[in-house]
Amino acid sequence: MRVSVIGCGYLGAVHASAMAKIGHDVVGIDVDLHKIGTLSQGDAPFFEPGLPELLREGMASGRLRFTGDIAEASGAAVHFIAVGTPQEKDGYAADLTSVNAAVDALLPHLAPGDVVAGKSTVPVGTAVDLAARIEATGATLVWNPEFLREGWAVKDTIEPDRLVVGVPFDPSTGHCSEAGERAADLLREVYHPAVAAETPFIVTDWATAELVKVAANAFLATKISFINAMAEIAEVTGADVTQLADAIGHDVRIGRRFLGAGIGFGGGCLPKDIRAFSARAEELGRGESVTFLREVDAINLRRRERAVQLVVEALGGQVYKKKVTLLGAAFKPYSDDIRDSPALDVAVRLRGLGASVTVTDPAAIDNARRLHPQLAYVEDRDDAIRGADAIVLVTEWDLYRRDLTPPHASRLTSGRVVVDGRNGWDAAAWRAAGWRYYGMGRP
Ligand code: UGA
Repeated sequence: MRVSVIGCGYLGAVHASAMAKIGHDVVGIDVDLHKIGTLSQGDAPFFEPGLPELLREGMASGRLRFTGDIAEASGAAVHFIAVGTPQEKDGYAADLTSVNAAVDALLPHLAPGDVVAGKSTVPVGTAVDLAARIEATGATLVWNPEFLREGWAVKDTIEPDRLVVGVPFDPSTGHCSEAGERAADLLREVYHPAVAAETPFIVTDWATAELVKVAANAFLATKISFINAMAEIAEVTGADVTQLADAIGHDVRIGRRFLGAGIGFGGGCLPKDIRAFSARAEELGRGESVTFLREVDAINLRRRERAVQLVVEALGGQVYKKKVTLLGAAFKPYSDDIRDSPALDVAVRLRGLGASVTVTDPAAIDNARRLHPQLAYVEDRDDAIRGADAIVLVTEWDLYRRDLTPPHASRLTSGRVVVDGRNGWDAAAWRAAGWRYYGMGRP
């Protein structure tokens, strides 16, 4: 099938490549010509395991190309909208400028029977607002949210754990309209390998589809902040939040995943999505339904400050001129994304207190340097650690969490302080090697 993907960022570039991989003829379109140039050479403009291979395979097959010209969308049966919806500059709401611009640019190239499939994360009610413009061309609008995780984006796109398609409903019957039925069938064809593998395929209305996405992210954020709230209580009672998480996680109704206490969540999705959800709920007159998301956000941000406090305490009450090495800059491992990165936030705060901060990361240094040129960056992990008064684990790359052993660290520096911002290390092993170990919510 011919498909177009409008917006070639983390979501769109992966989606376009994955669609080519499963046999479609794909054109990826973006207004950023630099990005188009990079992608057209088969290079990924960001770090995502598996993406470069997929891009090159797609280009070599002749089924994948990238362009800045939206007119090349014409002739595609399905047009995916995969542009960004960042937080507004002066508020909590999502900025829909790119979604509106993409739809407006696409309109002249739509033909009757085409399907426009929104993938971007949008406030509930967006599809209703866009529909009239799209339907005037004879095309059908569906909302098909994306649940991929950075670092696992290729796998999550090709083998999703569920597919959700919000289609137009006929107000007179209360059922999915005929155009909606046809559009859902077309998407079943698009996602044929997942459908053949019996992946749950949920056809619903626009509002439910839009809400599924924000509800999922709100739930995940709440789970992380819940365990971080328990970490705060653990800190004043001597309890160990990691053992607590293990113990409650054995209950299958709770589950252990996303109960990793530490410096909390960041990235381009969870923080802005919970804020946009609160803003939208206020607009709908239901602000009180999600007031807890303000708490979720507040708990999350407090953990960054707590990590800074721990470093200060560990270094005897002040960090001025102390050499502090931060292991990590990305918001999570297997990503070079530094949007709202808790790791960098901790680095900047420590530098604000006068510490001599060195940051290392296997993928995100270039991005971090552009945003925070005031920090010192060192590529090599061991060089970054050499001579440090304290080492702080802020992004749990294997290179740091799994591969850095206490005896090895002891050879690199005479400093004997580690602060484990991700609760990723074995406290006993560090202590046994003569280090003072400080975890988040651990004694
Ligand atoms: C998140 C969702 O997990 C995806 O399902 C969703 O599609 C995506 O947002 C999106 O909306 O596009 P992502 O932002 O890639 O994916 O990252 P996550 O793996 O969810 O991690 C988010 C943050 O939570 C990271 O900073 C991570 O370090 C932190 N985290 C995660 C914890 O602090 N503790 C945990 O136990 C798990």
